[in-house]
Amino acid sequence: SILRSCLFLPVPMPSKANGTISALAMNKDSLIGGVTNPNEVFCSVPGRLSLLSSTSKYKVTVGEVQRRLSPPECLNASLLGGVLRRAKSKNGGRCLRERLEKIGLNLPAGRRKAANVTLLTSLVEGEAVHLARDFGYVCETEFPAKAAAEFLCRQHADPGELHARKNMLLATKQICKEFSDMMAQDRSPLGNSRPSFILEPGVQSCLTHFSLITHGFGGPAISAALTAFQNYLVESLKGLDKMFLNSTGNGHPVGDSKTAEKDVKHRK
Ligand SMILES: *[C@@H]1O[C@H](CO)[C@@H](O)[C@H](O)[C@H]1NC(C)=O
Ligand SMILES: *[C@@H]1O[C@H](CO)[C@@H](O)[C@H](O)[C@H]1NC(C)=O
Ligand SMILES: *[C@@H]1O[C@H](CO)[C@@H](O)[C@H](O)[C@H]1NC(C)=O
Repeated sequence: SILRSCLFLPVPMPSKANGTISALAMNKDSLIGGVTNPNEVFCSVPGRLSLLSSTSKYKVTVGEVQRRLSPPECLNASLLGGVLRRAKSKNGGRCLRERLEKIGLNLPAGRRKAANVTLLTSLVEGEAVHLARDFGYVCETEFPAKAAAEFLCRQHADPGELHARKNMLLATKQICKEFSDMMAQDRSPLGNSRPSFILEPGVQSCLTHFSLITHGFGGPAISAALTAFQNYLVESLKGLDKMFLNSTGNGHPVGDSKTAEKDVKHRK
């Protein structure tokens, strides 16, 4: 019934800040009317990915709901209802609509250019970030960087190639570092953080777009995968140093990391 589906959503916590409710739905035509405190919890949803008894619950803030309704995702009422795990109701999501209006968010009627739905669409930010964190953990602890490095080193073991290969690895390492340093400065809005930007607005807005599409999963996931690759590079360099020692017998300075690093700098 309508009543039951309305009750399904927890009541929002009263806002502590003065006057935050005053802007309530002033502008009914725009998607983002006067929004109440974006840090306010709109509801809690059970995670999609937890197993057995380890059911995680994630708090969804008003700010997050606002992000999901806005471009690039532009979720409609049914998709938002699905994301928030609301039981399907016969009244076409009217309760959800009314609750959103109460906090100053209007679900626009009619079709808007929405992003394509992917599996990531179903994740709320809390769970997407949790998934990225777990992915980061396994990349860090379980990725077989050493085995991969040894395998590929063996395929490029020609003594005449070693020096050039080392320079390539060092150059790759440098490019990876540049890129991961940039990713580490991404300050896309997430959860109830309201970070101040570090990067130029041009690139930050593009990273924010990517973050909005993945609800915070994308950036950390790329950084995690990059960490695995960087570990591979480090292991490759170690393997190469061993091969240098082997091929020269006495650890000739041509294989010294610092010498090769200088070579890379010279070529710039
Ligand atoms: C909501 O959006 C999805 C995906 O864009 C679409 O398949 C569905 O038909 C839409 N539902 C309504 C009620 O407009
Ligand atoms: C969604 O997918 C369709 C089919 O693959 C594609 O033509 C369209 O451009 C996509 N839309 C967006 C917004 O990416
Ligand atoms: C060093 O050389 C020996 C003999 O050529 C070879 O068996 C061994 O695998 C080499 N070690 C490395 C790390 O390349």
